[in-house]
Amino acid sequence: MSQTNQPDPEVRKRVVEQDLANVMHPIVQHKALEKAQMVVTGAQGSTIVDADGTTYLDAMAGLWCVNIGYGRTELAQIAAEQMQQMAYYPHTAMNLPAAQLGQQINTLMGGDYHTYFVNSGSEANEAGFKIARQYAKHEFPGDFRFKTIARYYAYHGTTLATLAAGGMGERKMKFEPYAGEFIHVPAPTCYRCPLGLEYPSCKVACAKAIETTIQGEGPQTVAEVIVEPIMSGVGVAVPPDEYLPMVEEICRKYDVLLHVDEVINGFGRTGKMFAHQHYNISPDIMAVAKGIVSAYLPIAATVVKNSVFNSFLGEVADARQVMQVNTYGGHPAAAAVAVRNIEIMLEEQLPERAATMGDYLIGALKERLYRHEIVGDVRGKGLLIGIELVTDRASKTQLESGLVGGVLEFCKQRGVIVGRSGGGARHSNTVVLSPPLVITRSECDTLVEVLDKAIADAATKVRR
Ligand SMILES: Cc1ncc(COP(=O)(O)O)c(C=O)c1O
Repeated sequence: MSQTNQPDPEVRKRVVEQDLANVMHPIVQHKALEKAQMVVTGAQGSTIVDADGTTYLDAMAGLWCVNIGYGRTELAQIAAEQMQQMAYYPHTAMNLPAAQLGQQINTLMGGDYHTYFVNSGSEANEAGFKIARQYAKHEFPGDFRFKTIARYYAYHGTTLATLAAGGMGERKMKFEPYAGEFIHVPAPTCYRCPLGLEYPSCKVACAKAIETTIQGEGPQTVAEVIVEPIMSGVGVAVPPDEYLPMVEEICRKYDVLLHVDEVINGFGRTGKMFAHQHYNISPDIMAVAKGIVSAYLPIAATVVKNSVFNSFLGEVADARQVMQVNTYGGHPAAAAVAVRNIEIMLEEQLPERAATMGDYLIGALKERLYRHEIVGDVRGKGLLIGIELVTDRASKTQLESGLVGGVLEFCKQRGVIVGRSGGGARHSNTVVLSPPLVITRSECDTLVEVLDKAIADAATKVRR
C-alpha cells in the first residue's frame, strides 16, 4: 500500500466535511452516506482501504469493473507518458493508442469489426441504438425501422434512452414518460420464470417471445434486439444454452440487428474474453466499457460488425458517416491505458483464471450456503455470481429487503464488500459478487466464510 493509505483522521474529517457540504452522490441516499462515511484512499489487488485504515476485500471490483485488480502503477506511468506526448486531439482525426485499441478489440472479436469510442457503458449502448437506426435508414429505406426490442429487468445504462431500454421499474419511474420505441419482452430469469414455465419443458419460450414481438410490431419497424448475455444487475441470470443462439436466429430471420451489451460481461468476467463467446453467437453491435480499461480511466466503445460498418461508407456528399461526435471519444491517455490493460489480461490469462476461480468459488458457495434454508439459488459463470435469498426454498418468497441489506452490512463490518441486485421488489433479493479477476483462493475462502456467517445471521431473523 502506498503512503496515502496511512490512517489520517484529519484528512478523513476534512474530506467528509467538504464532501457532505458540496457533493451530490449517485444512487446512495445521503442520509446513509452520512452514517457510513467511507473515504477510499488506497487499493491494491482485490483490497481497498479507507482513510481510517480499515481494509476491505472488494468482492464487487468497484462497480463490477476493476477486472485486473487495483494498484497497477504501470498504468499510471502509461497515462502520464501519453499525456506528455499528446494529451488530446478530437477523434475526427486519428491517434496511435485508439488505433491500437481498435485493432486489439477486432483481433479479440475474430477480425470482422470496427470500433467507435465513447466514454461510458451508457453511451456505448446509446451509440449502438443510433447506429442500428442509421443503418436501417441506409439499408431499408422503404421501411421505418426504429424500434429496439429489450428485456424486462435489464439494465443498459443511465441516459434516457438506455433507461427506456432497461426494464428496471424502480430505476425508471422517476423520469417517465419515455418515448415508446423500446419494446420489452420477458427475460430468461429462469429461477423465477416470468412465463411461469420450467426449463427444459419451456422450450425456451422467452426467446420465442422475441419473434412473436417482432411479428406483432411489424418487422419493418424493428431495428435491433438488445441483450446482455448474462444479465448482471437483476441478480446474475445465466440463460439456458439455447437462448442466445435462438435470439440470433430470430434476428437473422427478420434482418434485425443483434446488439449485445458486454459492459459488465466483457473482458474476462465470465471466463471468456466476451460472454457471447460461450454461446457461439456473432453480434452486429457490441457495447463494452468497465473491463476494457478496468476503470483506470474512463473509456468505452461500440463495436460494430463490418457488414454494419460498411453501410456507413460512401462519398462525403452521401452523408452516410456516423452522425454523432463525442469530445472525449478515443481519448489517447485512456486508450493507451486500455491497450495495456488488455495486454495484462492476455499475459496473465485472466479470462481463464476467472473461469477456474469462478468454478472454485461457485462450488464452495454451493457447498457452504445451501445448508441455509434461505439460500434459494447459487448461480453464475466465471466470476459473475448471484446468491438468491428467500424465506424458504419451497415457497421461493423473496427475503425481505432489510434482511438482504443486513447481509451486506454484516459482511462490510467484517471487511468484505458484496453487492445486491436491483430490479424492483421481485428481483432485489440476490447478493451479487463480481470480484477482481485476480482474486486469490484464500480471498475466495474468506468471502465464503463471511457470507456463510452473514446468511446464518439473517436466517435467525426471518419471520415465517
Ligand atoms: C449491463 C450494463 N450496461 C450498461 C451500463 C452502463 O454503464 P455506465 O455506468 O458506464 O454508463 C451498466 C452499468 O453498470 C451495465 O451494468
